[in-house]
Amino acid sequence: MYKGMKTSKRSHTCGTLGLKNIGESVKLSGWVQRRRDLGGLIFVNLRDRSGIIQVVFDRDINEEAFNLAHEIRNEFVLTIRGVVTHREKGQCNDSIPTGHIEIKAEHLEILNTAKTPPIYIDDDDVLDESIRLKYRYLDLRKPKMQNILMIRHKATKIIRDYLDQRGFVEIETPILTKPTPEGARDFMVPSRVQKGSFFALPQSPQLFKQILMVSGMDRYYQIVKCFRDEDLRADRQPEFTQIDIEMSFINEEDIMYINERMIVEIFKKIKGYDIPLPIERMTYKEAMDRFGTDKPDTRFGFELKDLTNIVTNCEFNVFSNAVNSGGSVRAINAKGCGEKFSRREIDALGEFVKQYKAKGLAWINIKDDSIKSPISKFLSEKELTDIIEIMDGQPGDLIFIVADKTQIVYDALGQLRLELSKKLQLTNNNEYKFLWITEFPLLEFDNEEKRYTAMHHPFTSPIDEDISILESHPDGVRAKAYDLVVNGVELGGGSIRIHNSELQEKMFNVLGFSRDKAWEKFGFLLEAFKYGTPPHGGIAFGLDRLIMILTNTDNIKDVIAFPKTQNHSCLMTEAPSIAEEERLEELGILVKETE
Ligand code: AMO
Ligand code: AMP
Repeated sequence: MYKGMKTSKRSHTCGTLGLKNIGESVKLSGWVQRRRDLGGLIFVNLRDRSGIIQVVFDRDINEEAFNLAHEIRNEFVLTIRGVVTHREKGQCNDSIPTGHIEIKAEHLEILNTAKTPPIYIDDDDVLDESIRLKYRYLDLRKPKMQNILMIRHKATKIIRDYLDQRGFVEIETPILTKPTPEGARDFMVPSRVQKGSFFALPQSPQLFKQILMVSGMDRYYQIVKCFRDEDLRADRQPEFTQIDIEMSFINEEDIMYINERMIVEIFKKIKGYDIPLPIERMTYKEAMDRFGTDKPDTRFGFELKDLTNIVTNCEFNVFSNAVNSGGSVRAINAKGCGEKFSRREIDALGEFVKQYKAKGLAWINIKDDSIKSPISKFLSEKELTDIIEIMDGQPGDLIFIVADKTQIVYDALGQLRLELSKKLQLTNNNEYKFLWITEFPLLEFDNEEKRYTAMHHPFTSPIDEDISILESHPDGVRAKAYDLVVNGVELGGGSIRIHNSELQEKMFNVLGFSRDKAWEKFGFLLEAFKYGTPPHGGIAFGLDRLIMILTNTDNIKDVIAFPKTQNHSCLMTEAPSIAEEERLEELGILVKETE
């Protein structure tokens, strides 16, 4: 029950009635879940957002309502009036909160009829996703989906309260704007008034929130839509929501302190789950060396170990060549898996790592008094013993090895770890391992563009002691950047920003932008930086990903009311659609013929 819910059409909501209401006359409105006709009695399960209740139409109680009840079909919209009574013994249903009561109907009004729905409103209904998305309004009638949207609402309320209490001000920033440098492709919107010019939809409010710091707003936040024209994955949408935060007069510690407490509060209030504080930290380098990824799932082991030194001069060319051309050889020990996988399954894992560009997957199966391995003939006794020792190999273990360029080795083994944990069900969905990843490299080399690009974004500050090598050894510079990771998911990321316009220009220079180009793209920011910019920094969390974690779903579409499909369409509205000729004319746009 909520304030203001009592109206002419209802006195209560369906799911909140219980034994406490026995004898009361109530008025309810909702949708028909199901009708059962038992001759002299008609049972209807009536559903609203709060739950389901059983209503009985009895010829002997009210003949008019009973007769009308014959017309009821699934998803009709009704208002009924009746008395709350005990269900007969043997008719009770312990699995729903209203399972011990029913309403003896005295009056029925059919507010609306419904076509036979293509979706049966049931959480367990497994339907093709395209049907669910086309009839999203029906899909959203499912209690599970409604519950997710309510958790999403509750989480944003907790976030707003938390930030409000700490002096943060929610400020809206433009949706029609200039390209923002988050590294994805921009969505563009043509200007009618200035033909040939385009707005970009923001990939994040990054530049505006920094400018709000220049303007003295001190502490900003926004729960904000962001747009990135990139290929979708299970945890990506072209249009998604960030909890975007920026603060002045702070350092990394301050940002991590205030934000980890916000996450703690959300988990406590929504799940009753206690996240231990402070949240553990791990440098980027350690995360890569131990887990092969900068968003490790630390709920299970199978950590990577470096075998490079052992096999540098071995006779297996695959290994020694990888090392001699600057790569590395690394391995994981799938503890106790020696007997778990057939030869065929091991070969399938070899195919699996090829998706991540590995050329193969070597393995060593440790038996009680021997070893089985396709590569043992190429390795000396000492090399084998050293590998087993460094891997802490015991009889029953299965060691997987990849040799390649180090980034490929990391990717392949990092993904293999996750694949093994899925196959062996090593993780528990009710456990949350949070981790701050720190000391990211400031830059990474882009082989296609043949230049350095910012790993986070170009406004991220280098670590003080690395500033001196920014121009001489760009690879070695670490950033004042941090990501919050949970169970292998990047929940958020941010950084301390450069607030000095000279350092910012130097950074653009390292990124290969000429001074003119930098000013053309970000001149407004560089100019603003000249008028008294406070030290500042911030972070943004993916709200959709946060809700996925809170509701235990691995599909981002489940947590968004009206999501897009893989090819960026909305199946319900059929957007995007072909533009009308006159509109294109007005915009001065000529569309090339497409297939
Ligand atoms: P970043 O690009 O890391 O940082 O984004 C922050 C968080 O947003 C979420 N996210 C997404 N969620 C769903 N679909 C997507 N396509 C998608 N892309 C990103 C992730 C990610 O961690 N302006 C900086 C933040 C800052 O520096 O303050 C930024 O946008 O959870
Ligand atoms: P081959 O001699 O090509 O049959 O390879 C012998 C074994 O080494 C097979 O198990 C391959 O999967 C494995 N292998 C091949 N290339 C690599 C590599 N780059 N890293 C690890 N193992 C590899």
